Amino acid sequence: MKVKKLLKEKEFLESCGLVGKSEELKKIAEAILQVAPTNITVSITGESGTGKELVARGIHNNSPRKDYSFIAANCGAFAEGVLESELFGHERGAFTGAISRREGLFERADKGTIFLDEIAEIKPAIQVKLLRILEEKTFLRVGGVKDVKVDVRIIAATNKDLEREVEMGSFRSDLYFRLSVVKIDIPPLRERTRDIPILVYDFIQKLNQESPKKILGVTEEAMELLLKYHWPGNVRELRNFLESSLVFSADRYIEAQDVLKYIDKQVQIERHLPVITGKSVTAAEHELIYQALLGLRKEISALRKEFLEERSSEPKKESKSVEVKPQVSLEEMEKELIDKTLKMVGGNRKKAAKILGIGERTLYRKIDQYGLREP
Ligand SMILES: Nc1ncnc2c1ncn2[C@@H]1O[C@H](COP(=O)(O)OP(=O)(O)OP(=O)(O)O)[C@@H](O)[C@H]1O
Ligand SMILES: [Mg+2]
Repeated sequence: MKVKKLLKEKEFLESCGLVGKSEELKKIAEAILQVAPTNITVSITGESGTGKELVARGIHNNSPRKDYSFIAANCGAFAEGVLESELFGHERGAFTGAISRREGLFERADKGTIFLDEIAEIKPAIQVKLLRILEEKTFLRVGGVKDVKVDVRIIAATNKDLEREVEMGSFRSDLYFRLSVVKIDIPPLRERTRDIPILVYDFIQKLNQESPKKILGVTEEAMELLLKYHWPGNVRELRNFLESSLVFSADRYIEAQDVLKYIDKQVQIERHLPVITGKSVTAAEHELIYQALLGLRKEISALRKEFLEERSSEPKKESKSVEVKPQVSLEEMEKELIDKTLKMVGGNRKKAAKILGIGERTLYRKIDQYGLREP
């Protein structure tokens, strides 16, 4: 480990496949180095695409277990019964179709590390079995009566708030405490924008190496937009964007126009599928409304300016713009925006929804929520 510690953080991060130079990522590098030599159970949290699996592999590859298996199991990908036999294996005749005994992932990971992704999805029966492995290092295969002993280090990951799952009673608190002896939280990409340029150039370099077509670079305006976008799919989404750019912007620079086109498309998709962004429907809606609000504010002030210039002699009318006031809550701004927009279009909800960039049903709900119905 001493030699590893002497390596510069950047090189260490690179050895884990983690590109970036933000303080947040450096702290993660430190955490990996600290826990790697131990057998401590680690839980990694972070939105989808932030690099949870890379961190888990980094821990394994720098641990004394590195010459044994690293096995990743996605707990969200299987039905309960299937997951149980995937993880713990089954005995012959344990269920219809179990024609022979089969080893589970825990046995295959013996002496190595098992990475349990989407841990929040596991059901109570499996939670009990996991707890027993953590406490006694033993478990029963499905249909088995004899304990099987394993020496496996567990690293768990989730993009859900496990503490909330515990509060709601869907996740055992004793298991939660066992799993999160050490917690590593990977912040979303939008909160560590320092990583974006280096990630962009690193991905471009790799993509160019593999393709006869090349991306020449990214214009300054385009980079500014990449820094501002909220990247709900994090690093994975950034890489996907660049991969698609290889098709559309081959043999030229990626320009602001290309990024804008991409963002527009994503916002459309998110509008229909807010859950896939990793945010709640309300949070996603708030963000969209907030964006619409900023855009509308610009349009209205331009219109107002024209209007005032044309009819500067007339007495002042009530302003239709909505101030973005830091001391006012997003709800209040949203309410004001919806109210003013409705007045502006004479109560026509279809028009108002269009201007606001939200669905009519959402608008109806907001009108109810804020008590904006006309008497
Ligand atoms: N800092 C980084 N540098 C380089 N590549 C990264 C970085 N972070 C993530 N990636 C890449 O982004 C993709 C997603 O990473 P990973 O699978 O580790 O994310 P995750 O957090 O496990 O996501 P999910 O919750 O969706 O499973 C991978 O292709 C990974 O190589
Ligand atoms: Mg993953």
